[in-house]
Amino acid sequence: MGAPADHLAEAFHGLADHLRFLQALGVKELPLSREYLAGPGGGLRRLEQAIEGCTRCKLCRGRRTIVFGSGPAEAGLMLIGEGPGEEEDRQGKPFVGRAGQLLTRMLESVGIPRDEVYITNIVKCRPPGNRNPEPDEIAACGPFLDGQLATIRPGVVCALGTFAAQTLLRTREPIGKLRGRVHAFGAIPLIPTFHPAFLLRNPGPQYRRLAWEDMKLLRREYDRARGG
Ligand code: URA
Repeated sequence: MGAPADHLAEAFHGLADHLRFLQALGVKELPLSREYLAGPGGGLRRLEQAIEGCTRCKLCRGRRTIVFGSGPAEAGLMLIGEGPGEEEDRQGKPFVGRAGQLLTRMLESVGIPRDEVYITNIVKCRPPGNRNPEPDEIAACGPFLDGQLATIRPGVVCALGTFAAQTLLRTREPIGKLRGRVHAFGAIPLIPTFHPAFLLRNPGPQYRRLAWEDMKLLRREYDRARGG
């Protein structure tokens, strides 16, 4: 065990890192209220306040709402899609359209209630016509996803679809090659699987079987991360 002074120095370094991160997001003042100091819930609320009215990239021009994310701040599992679609843009919540309903059933098929997990996207505003997010948009939104990861500190991450998996893992490998195994995402195990919208467009048994394998793998990693 290190000396108390070492622990204190480590804590101050961590605090300094966090303050630099908030500064990079444009946060100018920190009301040190009970809410702010209340752990991950307060941290997430702070991030969501920082993104309000965001004009950091061109997606702000066509969006109705910013779809920040949903789920408990203490979630052990975080699911990351690519960007809000039409219904998400309307409701301000991720994965609430047809693809979202399928996602809920996929999670339930392995006994994971949707309200237990945190769900978000690489970009928080709807790309026009549901096109893929562009590099400048991903970069502009990056600090918010990083902040969500740093605040929630999930034990497992699931990347939904080619785009999210390739962006998070910084690779060009197709989802067919990435899925079916556990990747290292920093210190977090990451499991890529098909995007539920892809499964809706390709309803045959072939992809459904592979997606089911991925869900079982996700369940195993989730149990492992929780010490089960
Ligand atoms: N597709 C995504 O990638 N994210 C959503 O929130 C909805 C559909």
